[in-house]
Amino acid sequence: DWNSGNVIAEQVARIREQVGTGRVISALSGGVDSAVSTALVHEAVGDQLIAVFVDHGLLRKGEREQVENDYVASTGVKLITVDARETFLNALAGVSDPEQKRKIIGREFIRAFEKVQSDLVAEAKAEGEQVRFLVQGTLYPDVVESGGGAGTANIKSHHNVGGLPEDLQFELVEPLRTLFKDEVRAIGRELGLPEAIVGRQPFPGPGLGIRIVGEVTADRLEILREADAIARAELTKAGLDDEIWQCPVVLLADVRSVGVQGDGRTYGHPIVLRPVSSEDAMTADWTRLPYDVLSKISNRITNEVRDVNRVVLDVTSKPPGTIEWE
Ligand code: XMP
Repeated sequence: DWNSGNVIAEQVARIREQVGTGRVISALSGGVDSAVSTALVHEAVGDQLIAVFVDHGLLRKGEREQVENDYVASTGVKLITVDARETFLNALAGVSDPEQKRKIIGREFIRAFEKVQSDLVAEAKAEGEQVRFLVQGTLYPDVVESGGGAGTANIKSHHNVGGLPEDLQFELVEPLRTLFKDEVRAIGRELGLPEAIVGRQPFPGPGLGIRIVGEVTADRLEILREADAIARAELTKAGLDDEIWQCPVVLLADVRSVGVQGDGRTYGHPIVLRPVSSEDAMTADWTRLPYDVLSKISNRITNEVRDVNRVVLDVTSKPPGTIEWE
């Protein structure tokens, strides 16, 4: 019979055996898998582990603080935050194509991570101080999907990330390889991680960058971040978090429509709500949210978020529509 305490003890022993006195690096994304795998490795090897959090500026409201404050407070993990917001915005300037955006975000993420890596190499005095291990939050379904195979690899296999150069070789530490998502959450809770992280719904690696239809700019990110925070707060308040798989909030930055607000005509952008119900994200149905909740979200977004004068609901299943708009 499955017991999170036993799994933790078993994994801690296994990690210690694999890593010995070596140093380990881990990329925290704010998501459940990286949060729990990092916490497990920290439990096993303490300050031999360095966690790296890349703020690419495509995060949702409060996510950086959640990692920097709540996660660090509950684990005691040594954290390096890389503020890469400018770099990402510059790299994304003028780009509207979804696949291009994904590629650029993946590439910049790796560059930011490599920079930390080379700084650590420069600091390390003795050979034994070099970072040799990389934590990955690979789950059992990921293992099955990619046809197994472990060992030495780079961050490439992290599907949030993209291609890493050959010379950045780490030995992988993958303490979640035999586990399913609900088991990972149970372990996270047992390790005392904040519920806001452990219970989090899926969020794509490229973040808000693929929820702005059109070019990604600082201004548009700000608008979307506010709208998304309102939708999330109201869904949580209505007790709907368990019913919905996730609810992307999308800014149609290249579309404008006429509206009337306050004392005049407006010409603003629509926000799309995309609430979906799903078991595994392979297929999904649009969630029949209560009208009063939709109404509350719509009113708040159009009243509180500048440049938004319309809220629309996506009533498409997957297939034919994907969950994300890009
Ligand atoms: P789609 O849009 O393909 O999304 O129906 C299925 C699930 O995957 C998430 N998603 C991503 N996750 N990197 C990720 O880590 C990505 O590039 C990415 N694109 C989509 C999406 O949020 C949904 O849960």
